[in-house]
Amino acid sequence: MKRKRPPRLLVIAAILLPLAVLVTMAVRQAPRQVPSEPAAVRAAAMAVLESKCADCHDSRKGLPFYAQIPGAGGVIRRDIEEGLRHWDVYDTGHLGAAATAERRAAEEVPLGRLVKLRATVTADTMPPLKYQLIHWGTSLSASERLILNTWVGQTFGAWLSRWGIAGGAGADIQPLPDAIPFDMAKAALGERLYHDKRFSKDNTVACSSCHGLDKGGTDNLRFSVGVGGLKGGVNAPTVFNAVFHMRQFWDGRAEHLAAQAGGPPLNPVEMASASWEEIVAKFEQDAALKAAFTAVYPQGFSEATLCDAIAEFERRLITPNSRFDKYLKGDRKALSAQETRGYALFTDHRCTTCHAGPAMGGLSFEYADLKANYFAGRPLTEGDTGLAAFSKNPADARRFKVPTLRNVALTAPYLHDGSQTTLRETARSMLLHQVGTLLSEDDLEDLAAFLGSLTGELFGQPLDRAQAAAAQP
Ligand code: HEC
Ligand code: HEC
Ligand code: HEC
Repeated sequence: MKRKRPPRLLVIAAILLPLAVLVTMAVRQAPRQVPSEPAAVRAAAMAVLESKCADCHDSRKGLPFYAQIPGAGGVIRRDIEEGLRHWDVYDTGHLGAAATAERRAAEEVPLGRLVKLRATVTADTMPPLKYQLIHWGTSLSASERLILNTWVGQTFGAWLSRWGIAGGAGADIQPLPDAIPFDMAKAALGERLYHDKRFSKDNTVACSSCHGLDKGGTDNLRFSVGVGGLKGGVNAPTVFNAVFHMRQFWDGRAEHLAAQAGGPPLNPVEMASASWEEIVAKFEQDAALKAAFTAVYPQGFSEATLCDAIAEFERRLITPNSRFDKYLKGDRKALSAQETRGYALFTDHRCTTCHAGPAMGGLSFEYADLKANYFAGRPLTEGDTGLAAFSKNPADARRFKVPTLRNVALTAPYLHDGSQTTLRETARSMLLHQVGTLLSEDDLEDLAAFLGSLTGELFGQPLDRAQAAAAQP
C-alpha cells in the first residue's frame, strides 16, 4: 500500500514555522544599547513597549481577532481588559473629551504611569508568563529593562528639576521642597482673595470656608457645604501641595490651579455667583483693594487675573519638613519604630507606585475598584463617575486622581466619597481595593502610624501644632 504523501504546504509550513519563531526570538531578544539622547531613550522605550506590551496595554488598539474565539478567546479578552485597567501606555483620558487627536498624540505618558512601569519592570513580572509561553521571546531582556527604567528616571528627573528637586528620580517618592518660586506681590493679593467671601453670591463663602488653612487645607466634612447650605457630591481634597498635581479635581477637569480657581465661584453648590461680571462688580466698589490690585495687575479685575492671583498664593501652600521628609533626607531617628515598620509595609505593598512624587499622589488616575468592588452594597452616585465625567469615555468611569497623602492625618474624612473616617480603615480599604491583599490588625496600625508622620509645616509652623492650637477654645 502506497503511503499518502503529506500535502506540500504542510511540509513547507513545518519547516518554516520553527524558523520564523527562531528569527522573531532573535530579533526580539537582540541586545539594545541605551541611547544617550533623551528623545532617543524615549523612542527606544516606546519601541520596547510596542513590541512586547502593547497587546494588553494599548487602549488605541481594539481586541485582536482571536479574542473573539469562544473559550480561549475569553481568557485573552479578560487579560487585555485587566491589563488595560491596570496600566495603559496611551491613556489620555485626563486631557478631556475636547482634546484634539494631535494633542493626544503629543501627550507624554503621565509620571504616575511611569513610576508604575518602573516598579513592574524592576520586579520583572511582565509580560505574564502564560503570554510568554505563546509569544516566545517576549520576556524583557536586561538591556530592555534598562532602557525602560532609564526613560522613567530621565522623565521623572526632568519634572522634579522644574520644582528645584535635584536627584531622587530613582525613588518613587521625594521629600517636599522647602519652597518653590512665587511672585510675592501676586501671592499677597491671592491670599486676600482666598479668604474673600465676595466670590460667593451672598457673600457667605470663601475658598477658605472649604479649604481651611487650619484644617489641613480641607473642611473636615464628608461633603462641603456651599451657599444656602447646598452640598456637593465629592469630598473636598486639600489645597496643600496641590501645585504638584498633574491635574486638579478628582476627575482632573482643571489643567492647573488657575483654571481650578475659576470653578468654585460659579459652581451652584459652592459659591453660586451668577457670572464673573457680578463678582468683578463687587470688587470694583472696593477702592482700596482695586488700587492694590491694579498696581500688580494693570489690566484690572477679571476671571483671569483673580484666578492667577489665587493660584500664585497656592504656590506658597506647600508643607515641607514632616518627620517623614526628615527621614527621607537621612535622619533615621525621625520616625518611631512603629512608623518605620509602617513605611516598610507601605513600600512592600507598592503603595508608592500610585502615591508617588513629592506630594505622594496627584500624578495618575486609578480605578477605585481596581482589585475589588469598592462600590458593593451602595448605589452609584454622580460623584462616582470620576474621570469619565470629563473624558466622556465610559471606560474611565470610577477612575479618580490619586490623592496626595501629605498631612493626611489632618484631612479626614477620606476618599472621593468621604466614606472613611480613620487612617486605619482607609489603609484597609486601599489594601483590599488597590493592592488586592489583607493585612493583620497590627500591620494596619503600623501603616496608619506611618501615615501620621506625613504632617509637615506651613509658613514655617508645624501644622499639627497650629491645628491643635486652633482647636482650643
Ligand atoms: C497578555 C497581556 C499582557 C501583556 C502582553 C503585558 N501585560 Fe502587563 N498586565 C497584564 C495584566 C492582566 C495586568 C494586571 C494583573 C497583574 O498586575 O498581574 C498587568 C499589569 C501591568 C502593570 C501594572 C502593575 C501594577 O502594579 O498594577 C504594568 C506596569 C504592566 N502590566 C506593564 C507591562 C509591560 C511593561 C509589559 C511588556 C513588557 C506588559 N505589561 C505586558 C497583562 C499583560
Ligand atoms: C463649598 C466648598 C468649596 C469652596 C467654596 C471651594 N472649594 Fe475647592 N473644592 C471643593 C470640593 C468639593 C472639591 C472637589 C471637587 C471635585 O473634585 O469635583 C474642591 C477641589 C479643589 C481643588 C482641587 C484639589 C485636588 O486635589 O484636585 C483645589 C485646588 C481647590 N478646590 C481650591 C479652591 C479655591 C482656590 C477656591 C476658591 C476660589 C475653592 N476651592 C472654593 C470645595 C470647595
Ligand atoms: C493602584 C493605585 C493605588 C495604590 C497601589 C494605593 N492607592 Fe491609596 N489611593 C488611590 C486612589 C485612586 C485613591 C482615591 C480613591 C477614592 O477616592 O475612592 C487613594 C486614596 C488613599 C487614601 C485617602 C486619601 C484621602 O485624602 O482621601 C489613603 C490614606 C491611601 N490611599 C493610602 C494608601 C496606602 C496605605 C496604600 C498601600 C497599602 C495605597 N494607598 C495604595 C490609589 C492607590
